[in-house]
Amino acid sequence: MSTTTNNLPPVEALQELANQFFKALPGEAPKEISLDPYDHPRATAFAKSVTGENIVPGVNIPADDMSAQAPPALSDPFGGITAPPSATGPGASTTIGNYGNGNNISPAKPGGSNYLSAENSPFFNNNVPASIAGSGASPAAGHSTSGATGPGLAPGYEQTKPDSSSLSNGVPASVAGSGASPSYVHQQENFSIKDPVTSFPDSNIDRQGSSKDAFALPYTEDQPYWQDVESILKLISISDAPPGTSHSPLSQATDIHTPSFYFLQNHRQPVPDGQLGGFTSGFDAYKIKKDFPILNEKINGKPLVWFDNAATTQKPQPVIDRVSYFYRHENSNIHRAAHELAARATDAYEAARKKVQQFLGAKSPNEIIFVRGATEAINLVAQSWGDQYLKSGDEIIVSNLEHHANIVPWKRLADKKGLILKVIPVDDDGQVLLDEYARLLSSKTKLVAFTQVSNALGTVTPAEQMVAMAHAAGAKVLVDGAQSVSHMPVNVQTLDADWFVFSGHKVFGPTGIGVVYGKEALLNETEPWQGGGNMIQDVTFEKIQYHKAPNRFEAGTGNIADAVGLGAAIDYVTQLGMANINAYEHALLEYATHHLKQVPGVRLIGTAAHKASVLSFTLKGYSNDDVGKALNREGIAVRTGHHCAQPILRRMGVETTVRPSLAFYNTCEDVDRLIAVLKGLVR
Ligand code: ALA
Repeated sequence: MSTTTNNLPPVEALQELANQFFKALPGEAPKEISLDPYDHPRATAFAKSVTGENIVPGVNIPADDMSAQAPPALSDPFGGITAPPSATGPGASTTIGNYGNGNNISPAKPGGSNYLSAENSPFFNNNVPASIAGSGASPAAGHSTSGATGPGLAPGYEQTKPDSSSLSNGVPASVAGSGASPSYVHQQENFSIKDPVTSFPDSNIDRQGSSKDAFALPYTEDQPYWQDVESILKLISISDAPPGTSHSPLSQATDIHTPSFYFLQNHRQPVPDGQLGGFTSGFDAYKIKKDFPILNEKINGKPLVWFDNAATTQKPQPVIDRVSYFYRHENSNIHRAAHELAARATDAYEAARKKVQQFLGAKSPNEIIFVRGATEAINLVAQSWGDQYLKSGDEIIVSNLEHHANIVPWKRLADKKGLILKVIPVDDDGQVLLDEYARLLSSKTKLVAFTQVSNALGTVTPAEQMVAMAHAAGAKVLVDGAQSVSHMPVNVQTLDADWFVFSGHKVFGPTGIGVVYGKEALLNETEPWQGGGNMIQDVTFEKIQYHKAPNRFEAGTGNIADAVGLGAAIDYVTQLGMANINAYEHALLEYATHHLKQVPGVRLIGTAAHKASVLSFTLKGYSNDDVGKALNREGIAVRTGHHCAQPILRRMGVETTVRPSLAFYNTCEDVDRLIAVLKGLVR
């Protein structure tokens, strides 16, 4: 073959070679390609079907205006000023779980003592899903291909796309340049600087809506080209796989061929409904993984398994896109200026607040304060309400399970003000002892602060019951939801805590953003924490008037973009359905627990009847660090150490553990890989 001056073959020769290859392929694959930059047969055909025009390659489309070549809706739904990704992606939510009823954790009623029993788990047998106990079959091996919504268009896109006739450069004409929030204008309300409304209805959220398919996933579309590639590669890669080849070391009972190409592993054979013991197919973790670009990383040559979800979660594409969109099209400070971008940024930020409100089931967006994370949230409550209302001799109760973030702020306050800090003990499984808790409560108790899920052991506490007990004693309650909101439906009104806090980065949102939920009246009778701009109504050198919540607690410029990103993360998990996530992860945790227990020398730390996500353990003969390093060599990320929860680890008789922690994008195959490494070490 002749070459060009760059030592590359000429384009025509390459094209000829490629077309010979394509013609030889079986099935429906394209038989011919063109390397002419203006000749894209597929794109041209598609453009024709959209526009009805007879587009002649290289003639209708000027070389310097290639953007005109792409059909508008598919070219870059986020690139033009149409609707932000939250309106075009999973954010156009139609699937909302019933948070009041969807939680299958089922703590016992106040006064009962059976909240720890496993009897309310209808489909598990000896802590293992009944149908897979002993079978080795992977719950995640199944996947559904239903729910595809067409190329590139997330559900709801068409419904939420603004009517372009009323748009000026994509923004409602009535507000373009006015600086007024489009939402305000739509409501025909004027902004009052004295009593600013800081929440807007968000058309992207429809909590009342219902979906035909409760398990419909945000990104269910299959790219046509991918189907071509897949069908071709399947023909040439799987046909000679030996019958009965197991897809994983532990799945002896399954009859699934191992594809030769790692990227085909995303497309497994579905397992029959019912095989997952109450949790049937429909939740396709393999498909969900594709929404998380970082999960394509190879670590030490192996596909990444992210089992460090209790430390932080990975981010789906819609969250990444949303933050990027904000900086490309909306970035401004909020609440402060009469220009267009201020209106856009304010709307995006307040829409995110509204999403959080609905996600938590709070009464009002005024109950949602944006902070840096759960740690800052607890410090805010300690240093504002705690400093204002607690006095020497008052008692604070925390549980032995707490993360340092729910110990240190209270201990510091106790030392400063002469308060007494008491601790609810746990049993050897890591379950809070309710009888002991009841004995600690008295009229001196002014605050109870505890976690809904332990980050070190995974224990799910009987939070509703504990809140009710504290309230009966006249105490206020703070619930740390840092490890719960990503794993189970939460409704703050049902829970009835006075404050509930969480971090955005643990629920698939950005770092540096978190939330304090507080009951509105309580927030408004609490002195602000930090002082500065945004939180005041009026300032003179003699007197300062503060805003009501939430602005009262949001001094200075907050993390606007990441609040918006958190809103997109909430859209994403809402679309999956928190109850679905909870059920899937529960099955996965049971699967992992069952297999971890079989590894000789493994001691599971934290064996509560109700657990979420976390599998802390030690392995006899190995330091926890060595186990972590061995796993990392195989591309598996776990946390080793004290997990910022030294008191509970010491209670369990250890200083550190190895801690895999699960999320909904993990699969039984991921678990199998972890177990295989441990078994390799033991051998
Ligand atoms: N709190 C985080 C953890 O549990 C950092 O790992």
